[in-house]
Amino acid sequence: MQQIKEKLLQALEAAKTSKSAEALEKIRIDFLGRKGSITTLAKNADFSKMSVEEKKGFGQRLNELKNFANEQLKAAAEALESVAVRHKTNDLDLTAPGKGRRLGALHPITLAQMELEDIFQGMGFSVLYGPEVESEHYCFESVNIPHDHPARDMQDTFWLKNQLILRTHTSANQVRTLERFGAPIRAIFPGRCFRYESIDPSHENTFYQCEGLVVDKDISVANLIAVMKTILSQVFRRDVRVRLRPGYFPFVEPGFELDLNCLFCGGKGCPTCGDGWIELIPCGLVHPQVLRFGGVDPREYSGFAFGVGLTRLAMMKYGIRDIRYLNCGDLRVNEQFSVLM
Ligand code: DAH
Repeated sequence: MQQIKEKLLQALEAAKTSKSAEALEKIRIDFLGRKGSITTLAKNADFSKMSVEEKKGFGQRLNELKNFANEQLKAAAEALESVAVRHKTNDLDLTAPGKGRRLGALHPITLAQMELEDIFQGMGFSVLYGPEVESEHYCFESVNIPHDHPARDMQDTFWLKNQLILRTHTSANQVRTLERFGAPIRAIFPGRCFRYESIDPSHENTFYQCEGLVVDKDISVANLIAVMKTILSQVFRRDVRVRLRPGYFPFVEPGFELDLNCLFCGGKGCPTCGDGWIELIPCGLVHPQVLRFGGVDPREYSGFAFGVGLTRLAMMKYGIRDIRYLNCGDLRVNEQFSVLM
């Protein structure tokens, strides 16, 4: 009987790997079926040669063996069943469709910035990034806005306790860069700027600009116009017309407002532009004082600078009407732009 028990256990162990109900049924028949080894054991027992005590003992052990075999088979069947259920209901169902992975999307300002960087790099500009926490010197003094200059009032500022400020414009990079690399230089400085503004659909306290600086020999307004037209044609993917109006900025002389002929109405006048022109890029020829601050001799070199409102550009390019969408952190805004990557 012990032998039969061991054989049964071996057979069950082997059946585990086959994981099929048929294999278990075969074991049941082999041991408990009409011709199974346990049944045969009972049939073949010669009770005539056994004492009453022996008969009792044999019968008892035979019953125990039968019970043992039944229990083992039941346990094996249950184990098999639970695996089958798991296969059906859980992640082991190999026929189930995979879980879709959500692709992230780039922020519209990032997209606009990447595109500008590409275009400018194609024209030989370096792309540089300055600090967002800036000194008063680089943000104001070095770009010709001394302490008592009224131009400071145009930019309400976040002052930090340690005399540093959150930069109000990317022009803060002009003198930093001239000091570091000298002339000639061709570079853009995209980045985040901060002003103490009250917020409305077209004003934010946190926004992006892309400053540009070219310093070389014999740079004139003609170079400025040519570069601006080329850049804007690539950004808007069509030929554009621009015009310059005088504009005042302490760090350029002469200073201009560069207007773009309205792309919606072609210059006839519409609700978006009003008179046919969209004020787009403030710019000018670098003030000699700024060159001097940067250690560059204005008698030898001249240059132009411009400040693209990157946030504004992204809004125009993607038709975003309220600036507040851009910083609200709502993924539904970003997700709309993934297709544009
Ligand atoms: N820094 C100016 C602003 O934030 C924009 C600007 C004007 C930049 C004229 C320039 C420039 O480089 O030449 O209002």
